[in-house]
Amino acid sequence: MPLMTSKPMFDLAYDGGFAIGAFNVNNMELAQAIVDACAKEKSPCILQISKGARQYANIRFLRHIIDAAVEEYPDIPIAIHCDHGDTIDLIKTCISDGYTSVMIDGSHHPYEENVSLTRQTVDAAHAAGVVVEAELGMLGGIEEDVVGLDPAEYEKNVEKFLTDPQQAADFSKRTGIDSLAVAIGTSHGAYKFKHEAKLAFNRIEQIMKTCPGLPLVMHGSSSVPQEFIDLVNRYGGNMPNAKGVPEDQIAMAARKYGVCKVNIDTDLRLAMTAKIREVFFTKPAEFDPRKYLGPAREAITSMVQRKLHMLNSAGKTEAVIAHWKKLGCPLPAYYGGKKTGKKKAR
Ligand code: G3H
Ligand code: 13P
Ligand code: ZN
Repeated sequence: MPLMTSKPMFDLAYDGGFAIGAFNVNNMELAQAIVDACAKEKSPCILQISKGARQYANIRFLRHIIDAAVEEYPDIPIAIHCDHGDTIDLIKTCISDGYTSVMIDGSHHPYEENVSLTRQTVDAAHAAGVVVEAELGMLGGIEEDVVGLDPAEYEKNVEKFLTDPQQAADFSKRTGIDSLAVAIGTSHGAYKFKHEAKLAFNRIEQIMKTCPGLPLVMHGSSSVPQEFIDLVNRYGGNMPNAKGVPEDQIAMAARKYGVCKVNIDTDLRLAMTAKIREVFFTKPAEFDPRKYLGPAREAITSMVQRKLHMLNSAGKTEAVIAHWKKLGCPLPAYYGGKKTGKKKAR
């Protein structure tokens, strides 16, 4: 059962020309669709639970859904990740609940507070064999809400919110993180750019120079494909001016740079919503949830398959499992140090 931390994945991805897709799980259909796509494409993946998901579905329900996915698909390397963790208490809950990876997002705090919160997280997580992602800089989307910034202002002043390469080096040295989420022009949600959609590749290059070998993470990396926006709008939706990161730019970040993890949530929501809208619109008498959630699940699977090719992680399961075995099949302490990954009784 290759449940693992993201380390064996990132070791290979860093200069292996691919990145791992980190997909947000909010319910059973999403979890099933993601792992089904990974099984079809022989791709590793990270299943992540966000703050919104925690509020919506309850962290323990989601954990059990993910446990089922891991048991059903023992040949896929899977990491279970806490997305945008905000307090040390939440991180400790995740660690004691068997997560293999956590993100502490202190990016909206003053720098020294971010360092201190991240350092505490790393101490707690590493003691339990769990890896840590942290963030520096500011993305648009949900994060500008945190600091009350207008999205248009963000785009106009994006340079000053991007991750500072020198600060990244200091941050990584002082915290001991395993990966760093960088602000390079992406933002969360379906409305990422009002003007030209462009990532700051020069900034990624600079960060790779100041932080050699540090796996980088791209949040806000949905592409918001126009054909899905068109479907949503055709079947009664209203999403004008939605715009994401072009897929060729994500593909380049994954293949040519030290980007090892790419977060995708919005595109799965779009695939799901477009299909549900289509069923409601074309079959107004339908009221069996399985008759719209089933097709929606298939649409999510296809979307994830598309992403796995974009990230070039398709076909990488065997290499990742072989590397994990070479490292001695490391697993968090929660799993009792057993190589099988069997859970301790709760
Ligand atoms: O981090 C951003 C993700 O898209 C999750 O958003 O907190 O609404 O689930 P959420
Ligand atoms: P998107 O909104 O672009 O899918 O980003 C998701 C994300 O970064 C989750 O942490
Ligand atoms: Zn995010």
